[in-house]
Amino acid sequence: MSTVTLNYEAAIPRLGAAIVVLWLSWKAWAFLKPRKEYTLRAVAIVVLGDIGRSPRMMYHAESFAENDFFTDLIGYGGSAPIPSLERPKVKIHYLPEPPHWLRALPFIISAPIKVVLQVLAIFIELFTLPNPPEFILVQNPPSIPTLAIVWLVGRIRGSKVIIDWHNLGYSILAMRFPNSGERHPLVRIAKWFEATFGQKAYAHLFVTQAMHDFLVKEWDLQGIKVVLHDRPPRRFHQTTPQGIHELFAIKLNKSLSAQPALTGFLPPSDPPYSSAFTATNASAADVRIGGDAPAPPPPSSVLDPIYSEVQAPFLRADRPALLVSSTSWTPDEDFGILLAALGAYDARARRAGAALPKLLVVLTGKGPLRERYMAEAAALQKGWRWVRCVSMWLEAEDYPVLLGAADLGICLHASSSKLDLPMKVVDMFGCALPVCALDFDCLGELVKDGKNGLIFKDAAQLAEQIETLLTGFPNCPRLSDLRSYLLPATERPTSPPMYASSQERSDDLWETWDENWARFVRPLILRDVRRNET
Ligand SMILES: *[C@@H]1O[C@H](CO)[C@@H](O)[C@H](O)[C@H]1NC(C)=O
Ligand SMILES: *[C@@H]1O[C@H](CO)[C@@H](O)[C@H](O)[C@H]1NC(C)=O
Repeated sequence: MSTVTLNYEAAIPRLGAAIVVLWLSWKAWAFLKPRKEYTLRAVAIVVLGDIGRSPRMMYHAESFAENDFFTDLIGYGGSAPIPSLERPKVKIHYLPEPPHWLRALPFIISAPIKVVLQVLAIFIELFTLPNPPEFILVQNPPSIPTLAIVWLVGRIRGSKVIIDWHNLGYSILAMRFPNSGERHPLVRIAKWFEATFGQKAYAHLFVTQAMHDFLVKEWDLQGIKVVLHDRPPRRFHQTTPQGIHELFAIKLNKSLSAQPALTGFLPPSDPPYSSAFTATNASAADVRIGGDAPAPPPPSSVLDPIYSEVQAPFLRADRPALLVSSTSWTPDEDFGILLAALGAYDARARRAGAALPKLLVVLTGKGPLRERYMAEAAALQKGWRWVRCVSMWLEAEDYPVLLGAADLGICLHASSSKLDLPMKVVDMFGCALPVCALDFDCLGELVKDGKNGLIFKDAAQLAEQIETLLTGFPNCPRLSDLRSYLLPATERPTSPPMYASSQERSDDLWETWDENWARFVRPLILRDVRRNET
């Protein structure tokens, strides 16, 4: 019965195929079925961007590692990550870059291909981590495809997802389609995607209270919700007199000397022994000290009077007050307000005489409107005697030093999205520099009027604030009070004004990233350890 034999012969491969399919589906189910297989105290941090340019996600990684978590940071390469991530508990996994030929294709075609490649790459990374994460922290935006992947991986492996809301992905995408904006089909899909996969998570972190309120209202987010404000890197702090001396006597001498407006304005100085802001009690005649002077002979003992005492520079009493504003010179910052305020200050200072200091106003940054405003400033200050306003470009490493050396920061930022805060004020506060800031919607989350800074509405008010804060310079109690809210806990005066009414810690005190993280995020990640251990 050859036909039967033939049938058997035909059935064997089919049977084999059926077994393989069954086995594969069983494998797939075993792979996809929800289970708890995470390692306690392991976290995966996913950032679909250049890791080195995602400071907030790097600080998260650092904080998790400091809390003894195995920390896997997954993202793209490009810039070097912060050195403090080079520690045994942190492992960085770089995703492969999307192929170059994709860029040649139109966005509408390249975007989906890029997404598919990203999905595969992230999936593989997340599933091959040696320590399956207890938490997956993901930055949003971009939302596509990360939110869906971490949601799925979270379901399969039992990892708890934490979404760090920096902004809204769909609103950024809408800017690519200026004509249709949020009505564009792609934007609608993106919004649906973000709202669907972003809605449920173990926890949500927000960069502002305003974003928290907006999303809770619009999307009815589920999970623990915590506002975690941005903080500058650790190297942003108040500058010591030594640092101010190095900045002005050495680094900035050339760029300040190149400013014609400053001729005869700054007090005379003799670098490297003194600058317009600092002095040492040595002079060029004393060849035993100084940067460019011949090296000092080795001291006969540590107590050698000149060698040990002459080194430390101090702030000069006759220095001008230093005001700083950093800007990208875009139309949403109206420098006309600052120039008008400075003109008003100049007029008052002439009348007030010695009670008010001279002002050196340094504007840093590059941008389209710089030429226009600086030409205006140059024309105006020909008639000024007490105020000079210069624009300067600084090396990245000098920027925090300048902020930390200044007496007052000025912020003219007007937010367009109403959900974000000016990073420059965050940087200034990190340097314990009080600010006068132009009022806008959610500014109050950052600048506490009358505590760590003052909020103004127009030029006249700004002029008045500068005058009040700087009267009696360099001894200005009002300004010191503002600064005391921003100093690190160890440097705060023993009886700062914020303790006047109660001994409790005031919410208006500036906290570092670490303090903030310990207060808001740490309880979220340790709460579960306790629950699992019992
Ligand atoms: C720069 O240095 C020169 C001498 O080296 C000094 O005369 C000048 O005052 C300095 N300029 C500033 C702005 O400090
Ligand atoms: C520098 O100043 C300190 C204290 O202000 C003083 O003790 C020291 O003698 C001074 N040194 C010189 C070379 O004048």
